[in-house]
Amino acid sequence: MRASLAVLLVLALATCRKNIPLPDVTAPRDEATVARGAYLGTTLCSCVTCHSPRDWSKWSGPADLAHAMSGGENVGPLDGLGAGSVLHPPNLTPHRLSNWTDAELVRAITTGMGRGNHALFPAMPYVEYRALALDDALAIVAWLRTLEPVATETPPRALPFPLELVVNAIPKPVVLRERAPHPDDADYGEYVTHIAGCVWCHTEVDGRGTMVAGRQFAGGHAFTMRAPANGEVFSANLTPDPETGLGKVSKQDFLARFHGVDPATLPPGAPNSVMMWSQYHRVSDQDLGAIYDYLRTLPPQVHQVTKFQLNE
Ligand code: HEC
Ligand code: HEC
Repeated sequence: MRASLAVLLVLALATCRKNIPLPDVTAPRDEATVARGAYLGTTLCSCVTCHSPRDWSKWSGPADLAHAMSGGENVGPLDGLGAGSVLHPPNLTPHRLSNWTDAELVRAITTGMGRGNHALFPAMPYVEYRALALDDALAIVAWLRTLEPVATETPPRALPFPLELVVNAIPKPVVLRERAPHPDDADYGEYVTHIAGCVWCHTEVDGRGTMVAGRQFAGGHAFTMRAPANGEVFSANLTPDPETGLGKVSKQDFLARFHGVDPATLPPGAPNSVMMWSQYHRVSDQDLGAIYDYLRTLPPQVHQVTKFQLNE
């Protein structure tokens, strides 16, 4: 009885599959737009981290930029979806995107509704990219069009049973702001922090991957460490608590931490981080400074995190 109720519920959710209208947009193709898109795609929004092969023999698994956006590793088992799950960030080079329109790309990135009403699993951070301004979303599309075509094909998605249907209910329509805020605007820091996707990783999540209410940015989200290290890495507390968070870290030190990243070879078996330091280290001082200022406005939360825990 319980099982059939569960099936009914899942079927009801599946019928929530929405028709999200395509925006009436075309990406400009000028140099400045492509450069902005490249900045967002390779640093701040770090599309390249997930959508390219990563080199886990180096600190923070830098993306292989010679094969930028040619498709990434299977994140399903690493995101706790089970050993048999298959979830590859697909190839987004022109080899595979040539028959996607700009509007289809903007819709997929900012609402999670892919081509042919294929609802994307939110490991693709569209929940955060809903905050993107239209001009920035179009810049990312313009940049994708300029990439070297690579002919890789990632295997199709395979999620554990209810998720394959539940995912249909997640994409939502969004009305994007026309323009990204100017660095002098009051909401610039919040905007940059949002589109950089810091919050999900830096917040504890429940068994379904949903952020625990009231714990935003307080850290403690566990990630499976990549082989050959065996253990878990926990995200840091980014709130301004002086003892357990970033309260005593100056802006200069914060910037230095990012810019000082050297993705040189890791000693074999040493604990590695999933945070894409190797991409964020090229985020501009202006944007890192704005992220820092925004983090200072958060309510301090006392939460001691031990970052690296190796299994025996
Ligand atoms: C944290 C990892 C991650 C990041 C960062 C990420 N993606 Fe994704 N992306 C995914 C995954 C996983 C999928 C596959 C989702 C699915 O099939 O359910 C995906 C799917 C997509 C799709 C749909 C492709 C298709 O064939 O249906 C597009 C378009 C896309 N991503 C664009 C982007 C862009 C542009 C960025 C940067 C602004 C980005 N992604 C950043 C993980 C990521
Ligand atoms: C993919 C998940 C992920 C994303 C995205 C992410 N982080 Fe992290 N972050 C972590 C993990 C895990 C750690 C702990 C291990 C380490 O130090 O790298 C960490 C550590 C840190 C630290 C070190 C703090 C300390 O006390 O040593 C800072 C600072 C930080 N993150 C800031 C950010 C900011 C700012 C963003 C957004 C621009 C961000 N992170 C995005 C996972 C993430």
